[in-house]
Formats: sequence, C-alpha cells, structure tokens
Amino acid sequence: MNDHVTATRSIRRRLIVRLLASAAILAVILFLVVQSFGRQLGQESQDNILAASVTSVLDAVTVQDGALNVDIPYSAFSMLGNISDDRVFYRIEQNQAYLTGYEDLPFAEGLTTESQPAFATEQYLGEDIRLVTASRKLSLNNQPVVVRATIAQTRNGQKQTLRQISQTVLFLGIGFFAIAMVLTFYAAQSTIGPLRRLAASVSRRGPQDLRPVESPVPSEMVPLVRSLNQFIGRLKKSLSQSEEFIAEAAHRVRTPLATVRMQAEVTLRRVERDENREALREMIRAIDESSRAAGQLLDHAMVTFRTDHLVVESFDFQVLVDELVTRLRPIAELKEIDLGWQMGKPALIKGDAILIQNAVRKLIDNAIKYSPTESSIKLTLSQGRSGISLQLIDQGIGFPEKDFELLTDRFVRGSNAQDTIGSGLGLTIADDVANAHGGSLELKNNTEGVGACVTFYLPLR
Ligand SMILES: Nc1ncnc2c1ncn2[C@@H]1O[C@H](COP(=O)(O)OP(=O)(O)OP(=O)(O)O)[C@@H](O)[C@H]1O
Ligand SMILES: [Mg+2]
Repeated sequence: MNDHVTATRSIRRRLIVRLLASAAILAVILFLVVQSFGRQLGQESQDNILAASVTSVLDAVTVQDGALNVDIPYSAFSMLGNISDDRVFYRIEQNQAYLTGYEDLPFAEGLTTESQPAFATEQYLGEDIRLVTASRKLSLNNQPVVVRATIAQTRNGQKQTLRQISQTVLFLGIGFFAIAMVLTFYAAQSTIGPLRRLAASVSRRGPQDLRPVESPVPSEMVPLVRSLNQFIGRLKKSLSQSEEFIAEAAHRVRTPLATVRMQAEVTLRRVERDENREALREMIRAIDESSRAAGQLLDHAMVTFRTDHLVVESFDFQVLVDELVTRLRPIAELKEIDLGWQMGKPALIKGDAILIQNAVRKLIDNAIKYSPTESSIKLTLSQGRSGISLQLIDQGIGFPEKDFELLTDRFVRGSNAQDTIGSGLGLTIADDVANAHGGSLELKNNTEGVGACVTFYLPLR
C-alpha cells in the first residue's frame, strides 16, 4: 500500500501564525494610539498652563504715570514649575518693540484676536520649547498700544512623561501579546481537535471495520465525513462483490470440470481398445490438473485478497489442525498413509482462521501427495513463549537438494514433482499466510531418514 501523502503546512501552524500576526499588529496599533494620545494630552495640559501664565503676565501690565509698568507676578511662572525643572523664558513687546525679557525669543505666528493665544513649538538655545503668544490692548496717553507677551517653556518634563507613558504602554503591549499567544495556542489546538479525533477514530479501526463515521463533527467537516462515509460504502460494496466473485468463479469452473471428469470415467469403463482407454486416462489427468489449478488459483486469489484485510480473531490452533486432520484422513487412507496427530493443551492464537486453515491444508496436502503409500506423516504442535509452530514430518521424497527457497514462489514446482499433479501454488499460499501474520514457513529435509520437514510458525500477538 502506498502510505505516501504529500503534506502542506499544517492547519494548526497556519492558524497560529495568522492569529499571532494579527495580535502583533493589534499590539503595535495599541502602542501607537496610546502613545499619540498621551503626547496630545501632555501638550494640551502644557498649553493650558502656558495660556494661563501668559494671561496673568498680560494682566500684570498696567499704565502708571503715563508709562507702561510690567510687574510680573511670581505666580505667573510658578504655575509652570514642574519636577524636571523645565526652563521658562518670556518676552514682552510694546507695539512690536522689545520691552523686557529675552530679546531673541521667537513668538508664535498667527495671533489673531486678543482672546485667542497662539502656540508654537520651536528650537531655542539648543532645546525644544513650547511657546505661547498673546496680546492685550491698552490705552497710553490716549493712544492705543498693543502689548504682546510670549512665554516659552522647555519640553523636558513633557518628554519624560511621554517616555513613562510609552514604557507603560510597551509593557501593556507585550503583556497583551503574551496573553494573545496563550489564547492563540489554545484556539488552534481546540480548532483542530475534531479533525484529530476523526483521524484517530478512523486509524484505530481494524481493516474489517467498515462502519460509517457517526460521531458528531463540526459543520465544516460534514462534507469531508460525508465523502469518507460514501467512500467506505463503496469499498464495502466492492469488497463483498470480490468475495462473491471468488466464490462464484470457483463454483463455475469446478462444477463443469467435475461433470466432464465423471463422463470421462464412465466412458473409460465402457471402451475396450487400449489406445482409447489411454487417451481417456490422459483426459482425466488433464481435467484433474485443470480442476486443481483452478482451485489453487482461486484459493491463491482469496488468500491474496484476505491477507490485505486480515480478519483477526482468537481461536484454538489445535482444534483447527484437528478438524483438518479429520477431514483429510480419508484422502490419506487412500494411500494407506497414517496421519499421526495428538491433541494436547489448547493453543490459543490470534489470526485469520480461514487463511491459516487454508495454509495448513496445503501443507498436509503436500505431505500426502509427496509421500509413498504405507508411510506416515507426523504433525506436532509446539507452543513457545513467542509463538506456536506446527511441524509436519513425512517419509516422502523430500525436497529437491537445490533451490529450496524458490519453492515458495508462485508456480514454482520442484524437480521431484514431475509425476504428480500440481500448479506450484500450495507453498506460496502457506508462505503468504504465515508472512501476513508475522510468522514464517521453514522448509527442510529430515536429517534422520527420508522425507520433508515443514514448520509453519505463527507468533502470539
Ligand atoms: N512434503 C513435500 N515433500 C517433498 N517435496 C515437496 C513437499 N511439499 C512441497 N514439495 C515441493 O515443493 C514444490 C512446491 O510445492 P507447492 O505446494 O507450492 O506446489 P505443488 O504441490 O507442486 O502444486 P499445488 O499448487 O497443486 O500444491 C512441489 O512441486 C514439490 O517439489
Ligand atoms: Mg502443493
């Protein structure tokens, strides 16, 4: 049987790879979203404080004695203070002319109305700063004057907070991925579980178990199980057809041959001329050969077919041999051959009883066929720890000295078998049956005296 099946990547692995890839993408998205949200939140809170600070600075600008007086309150800057000691800069202008603070401090463009401060992120003194610019209109000596204030703060504190958030989110992402990994393995395992159970239940079956699969399966597997059941049904039908065919063919070939033989024998008794009698004897011999060949061929076909589908059952090997001896004794007695056989302890064995019976019959048949009249055949059953062997010792012509092993090949007959009818399939059948059960067939000649010694060995399963 060809056991080779081309396997592509396993479903379980595919599922794991896909689910893990999705989990990794989700973890990265989670990381990026939370990080940008944190950055936005950090910026918004810094902007709010900067706006409050610039408002309080502008509120502190007053007109005193015909001049602008800027008395920046401590609270305007203290509200900007934080743990990372961010530096704060300011610049105040009067009608776009520098008034106080850092003269080169940039200001945020796009200042529209007094109530809406503008924000910008710039570089100042080699550091990132966030700045806010707001303005206020005042009246100085009945002249309108615009006071513009810019407050800037370095962004170290915000960056540090962002780093902390990123780190937390990174751990969160890794944790999420680890949990997803465990769930993925569990999901993949449970998804392919029904497939595994189906495969196990089918492969556990014996060769004769051709029942349809009836255990419930997930809906996706229904078409597969349905096809499998249909296939099992077809196989069952074809097996029973083959068995019927073998039996039918045996019947159809042997029955007309038996009729022809009977007619030939009747005619033989009637004819008197020697040459006609000789011709009829030849005819009867040819019929016997054909009939035997047909029988052996059909037995061989049956054995070949059954060794692929062994029907293993437990039975007493001794009872099987005993039945065969009883059945074949009349044939042996025709040649006045004594079949020596004695029942002993029960010999329980597991195997296909029909095949084993067929094999042993071929061996007893050979022993009778190749033994001279008035001889004896001894059958001994011995039980060892690993198996049971049946030994047949006859007092016949023995195996030819050369090419012993070849005698178990199909249609091979020995040089000692010229005068006997046969097709060279008996030992092939016995050998095939022994091998199908993990046993062996040993052929040798008796060391003491004449005759063959055949050992049919079957292991205990
Ligand atoms: N007991 C035996 N004594 C001597 N020779 C044997 C014995 N059994 C088998 N042989 C030899 O082995 C050969 C093969 O035996 P096998 O049973 O396969 O074929 P066959 O007896 O010739 O024909 P058939 O198919 O009708 O049995 C025989 O032709 C014979 O030469
Ligand atoms: Mg034979």
